[in-house]
Amino acid sequence: MTRPNPLRLGASAPALRKMDFFSGMPDEHLALVARVARRRRFRAGQVVIEENSAADTFFIIRTGRVRITKRLETGEEMLLAEEGPGGFFGEMALLDEGPRSATARAVEPASLLEISRNDFKVLLDQAPLLAYAMMRVLSSRLRGTGALMVAQLQHKNRELADAYRDTITAVVNTLEARDPYTRGHTGRVTTIAKAIASGMGLSEEELFIIEIGALLHDVGKIGVTDAILKKPGPLDSGEYEEIREHPEKGRHILKHIAYLEKVIPCVLHHHERYDGGGYPQHLAGADIPLPGRIISVADAFDAMTSDRPYRRGMQFARAVAELRRGAGKQFDPKVVRAFLGVWRKLARLLKRPPED
Ligand SMILES: [Fe+2]
Repeated sequence: MTRPNPLRLGASAPALRKMDFFSGMPDEHLALVARVARRRRFRAGQVVIEENSAADTFFIIRTGRVRITKRLETGEEMLLAEEGPGGFFGEMALLDEGPRSATARAVEPASLLEISRNDFKVLLDQAPLLAYAMMRVLSSRLRGTGALMVAQLQHKNRELADAYRDTITAVVNTLEARDPYTRGHTGRVTTIAKAIASGMGLSEEELFIIEIGALLHDVGKIGVTDAILKKPGPLDSGEYEEIREHPEKGRHILKHIAYLEKVIPCVLHHHERYDGGGYPQHLAGADIPLPGRIISVADAFDAMTSDRPYRRGMQFARAVAELRRGAGKQFDPKVVRAFLGVWRKLARLLKRPPED
């Protein structure tokens, strides 16, 4: 029988067998591990290995817990795993001979078994069951890390999407503050456009583009003078021309913002007509980008049903009839059909009884 090396004071084979990882291994494998392992103690918070440092050891946890983290470019520390008794770490840099891929830190007082690079190679060579067990753990760890990365990425994406929305909503609120008569218009157009788009079965990404596009559809009105924007009476032809420039002005405002590139068609084309009689580019039918056709219906419906100083907003049911009448002329019939499927739900969402 192989005796534990008294100089190394690592671990005995029976002690190793108590650890899950080693429980099914033959005695000679455990004896081999016991012979080469050296016991080391770490205080809570103490770093065991540091990311990017040179690597020449491998660790197995006897007692305590160790947290494995990786530093991101932003300086944040990302938690990769927390290992308890039987867990191991440090193998990657020994296998690929690169620097440490992560930092390991004891979260509570921990007793670890340390194995040198040379002994680690001997172990893998002479204890195939140990190598196989390690590969199994590594595979499941890889799966876990993959799932963790995806979850963290999704979380970051949600945070980023919320930040977009908040920033853009602040811009829109500033814009609407100039024109009290259209207060709430942008929010309602966004609600309606999203409902239509989701009724048409568009993807999450397309829905997000339409949401941001609807929020920003009139951003070009920032460039329209107050005298015209707030004029209580009818506009003369010159003033009307200036108002008609707002989609182009909107495109101009957004064109240098890379992450809003996909939103530009919503802004530029929300006043095109399906029959080609709209502006600014007189596009017709399917040549008008779909988000533009959707926002056009949402925009028209809200304009018809909102109160203005000089008139009361239309009843929902009447405005729906107007949209039906405009299908194929002003509006894409497919978009109007999708709207007809969601408008009663929308009436509830916008807190308006359909026949008010
Ligand atoms: Fe507009």
